[in-house]
Amino acid sequence: MNRVTFSVNGVERTLDVEPGERLLDVLRVRLGLTGTKEGCGVGMCGACTVLVDGRAENACLVPAASLDGARVVTIEGLSEGGLDPLQQAFLDHHAIQCGFCTPGLVMSARALLDENPAPTEEEIRTAIQGNLCRCTGYEQVIAAIASVAGVEARALADEGDATIRRSPALQAGAPFARKPPTATPELQLQLRGR
Ligand code: FES
Ligand code: FES
Repeated sequence: MNRVTFSVNGVERTLDVEPGERLLDVLRVRLGLTGTKEGCGVGMCGACTVLVDGRAENACLVPAASLDGARVVTIEGLSEGGLDPLQQAFLDHHAIQCGFCTPGLVMSARALLDENPAPTEEEIRTAIQGNLCRCTGYEQVIAAIASVAGVEARALADEGDATIRRSPALQAGAPFARKPPTATPELQLQLRGR
């Protein structure tokens, strides 16, 4: 048993954890934060994505014992003061069907925009490449993330941040190319539910 102290959505927690206990179980079972989903349990689907010290991590792969001093943010933490702009954008762009993948996708996108407020389409695709969605597909998801990226980039630009990089597509106001996401043959079969 290890005693660890870390914050979850801004609240400090001190817990005794087993050596093999996963952050995912701490969140869902011990803290009742069931917004973080378990899909594969082995780091392949991204349904369990949370932020750990600002980075997107698969909670199914993070040992709770490694978290002493860490800051964890879950999907519940994003919406404490109302929906995060990304959550609203997913609604506005109909980027949800069953919703099982959605918390993980939103958290991956949040990590991206926190680090890079004006990502290119390629950077958005790269940021969510570890998040599998079996029913909505990715085009609406990418459009939703891009719409927030544009807003957040403009807000930062208005504040005079000269380091802002704007996506060429966003600068031109051009619609995003509707090409399918890059996927291996195995992943394409998974996406079709086979
Ligand atoms: S449940 Fe963690 S990556 Fe699938
Ligand atoms: S909305 Fe169903 S898996 Fe993505």
